[in-house]
Amino acid sequence: MTFLPERKTVTVHRGTTVLTAAAKAGVKISQRCAGKAACLTCKVNIREQHNVSDPNQQEFFKLDALLNDGVRLACQTKVLGQCEIEVPEDRLKAIIRAQLEGRHDDD
Ligand code: FES
Repeated sequence: MTFLPERKTVTVHRGTTVLTAAAKAGVKISQRCAGKAACLTCKVNIREQHNVSDPNQQEFFKLDALLNDGVRLACQTKVLGQCEIEVPEDRLKAIIRAQLEGRHDDD
């Protein structure tokens, strides 16, 4: 499987969660509830979902319409084959980057 945007690839056993696979690949995905589907900070985007598990009850309840946009919880989604996982930029990093780019524009 491949993690975007860094394009880091890793091979994992079928049934491994995306969160565990990310850790193995050295990709940081935010998480605060130890994988209990409570914090929702581990959201990732998966466009092609045929090689991952179907959303479980907790994902249906917590993500609702976001599931239609390909959003999944990395702690609940299991890898079934080759797939690409898009990891959103960390919020704090995004804020800092936006400020730095704004500062750069003023130079
Ligand atoms: S780690 Fe908290 S919802 Fe996935």
